[in-house]
Amino acid sequence: MKDYHLTVLSNRQVSDRYWHMIVDSSVVEERIEPGQFFNIKPTNHETYYPLLRRPFSIYLINEDTLEFLYKVDGPGTRQLARYKPGEKINLLGPAGVPFTMSKDCNKVLLLARGVGIATLAALAQKAARMNIEIYAILSARKQDDLLATKTMEKYCTNVYCVTEEDGTSDVEHVREMIRDLMETYPIHAAYTCGSRRLSMLLQKMSKGNGITGQVALEEYMACGMGVCYSCVCDVKRHGVTQTVKSCEDGPVFPLEEVVFE
Ligand SMILES: Cc1cc2nc3c(=O)[nH]c(=O)nc-3n(C[C@H](O)[C@H](O)[C@H](O)COP(=O)(O)OP(=O)(O)OC[C@H]3O[C@@H](n4cnc5c(N)ncnc54)[C@H](O)[C@@H]3O)c2cc1C
Ligand code: FES
Repeated sequence: MKDYHLTVLSNRQVSDRYWHMIVDSSVVEERIEPGQFFNIKPTNHETYYPLLRRPFSIYLINEDTLEFLYKVDGPGTRQLARYKPGEKINLLGPAGVPFTMSKDCNKVLLLARGVGIATLAALAQKAARMNIEIYAILSARKQDDLLATKTMEKYCTNVYCVTEEDGTSDVEHVREMIRDLMETYPIHAAYTCGSRRLSMLLQKMSKGNGITGQVALEEYMACGMGVCYSCVCDVKRHGVTQTVKSCEDGPVFPLEEVVFE
């Protein structure tokens, strides 16, 4: 993990609530993997508020650029949206444990909700390069929030969208979709991000079908480097519940280990 000052190449609003930032990462020598995140300092030199960095997963990883997709919500993301092309932005990373994907995998299922779609897009990008068939279920509040659908369609074999607006995103409906997919295709691994309810659902269904799974957790983080314990969560390993730090031991964990309830 290093402290980088990278040039913003583009930072534009892409829907009602979402923004897309591209930075020049040609100076980054470290290997960056899907599921990892950068802790971005949302402020420039003129202001120190908010003081804490904000964690963002990498949306797309290209040869000389990195892309982030973020929802403008509070003070940090509002500041982030102010960056103009040509300005330098301070990022600490790449941080955290990435997703793993076995070469023996032929078919994977991705289940993402909200900004979790941003996290799983980088994984879809990697899986497509490995010629893995990807079946993705994307869930959001409304159609306007499903802005990464086109990107996902580029990499995935099939993309299914569900929204609250259409009345299609309830857990029971998603359960049926997953069951159909698992019955139709021999899915080898499942990945999820963005919703505790959907993660719990996928945890049960993966276990029932003998499929390995991983989840990227989005716990609130303060330091993002393992010193403040603000991001802890529980995992159960060999029958023993342990408290772990999601910034350092995660954010990606084996799905069967995470204690959601
Ligand atoms: C590993 C990781 C990867 C992430 N990747 C992305 C991403 O790719 N795109 C993206 O838009 N967001 C992502 N997030 C969430 C992002 O960090 C928060 O939205 C951001 O910190 C909010 O900052 P803010 O100052 O704008 O809002 P704040 O005022 O801090 O919070 C505004 C709202 O966002 C909620 N919020 C704050 N932190 C989180 C969090 N960690 N998870 C969920 N909700 C939160 C708050 O409850 C509040 O409702 C990620 C979080 C983690 C931990
Ligand atoms: S955010 Fe500080 S220990 Fe994880």
